[in-house]
Amino acid sequence: MNQEDQFQKPQRTLIDKEVSWDKTQVIMSKTNAFGIIEYANEVFVDVCGYEDYELMGQPHNIIRHPDMPKVIFKVLWENLKNGKNFHAIVKNLAKSGRFYWVITDFEICRDENDAIVNYIARRQAVPQEVISMHIEPLYKKLLQIEAASGVGFSEKYLIGFLEEKKKSYVEYIKELIEENDKAHNKFVQQEEHPVYEEEEEEERGFFRRLFNR
Ligand SMILES: Cc1cc2nc3c(=O)[nH]c(=O)nc-3n(C[C@H](O)[C@H](O)[C@H](O)COP(=O)(O)O)c2cc1C
Repeated sequence: MNQEDQFQKPQRTLIDKEVSWDKTQVIMSKTNAFGIIEYANEVFVDVCGYEDYELMGQPHNIIRHPDMPKVIFKVLWENLKNGKNFHAIVKNLAKSGRFYWVITDFEICRDENDAIVNYIARRQAVPQEVISMHIEPLYKKLLQIEAASGVGFSEKYLIGFLEEKKKSYVEYIKELIEENDKAHNKFVQQEEHPVYEEEEEEERGFFRRLFNR
């Protein structure tokens, strides 16, 4: 059982309005190995609307939005528990009931025995077009499948959807953001050595640039 299951999540009345926040900022939090919040930066606190004392010791699903399909968190946790970074586009729920969309980047912290002790999540804003044209329709479908047939089938649908595109989920969202940047003629910053041996390296480079790290 996930340690998160032991906590009672507060019920929020949903408001179909976005939180207004400074989208140049990075929303950061740190959890233990079970996803229990141990630290949140000021931006996190400002955007979600909870006080520090309301967040510390709480499971991270305190800001889970019901519009998020379960399968995304399933894949996220499978990666994190295996010590792999993961990037996901997530709709979060503020204390006010409003929402905010982010893309995540994780850092995995281990002790001297190589056991995972903490996760650090950094989040950035996602272009509105990416959300409304691609992510919202996909997540809506996944959610409907979960309601009708369970997470096993939303996962099968997601696998089929990505197989058709010949991409992993992370490659798919990376491409959506890159295409959006190109369409808006945004300068896509190059690394000093833009030639990569491996596609994975290129992907890492993209997210490193996105998160300035
Ligand atoms: C470091 C870290 C950051 C996380 N950030 C978020 C987040 O911003 N929003 C969210 O809904 N879940 C986040 N999660 C995932 C939650 O732990 C949880 O799996 C998710 O909210 C789904 O909740 P549920 O298992 O109750 O369905 C994060 C997990 C970790 C380890």
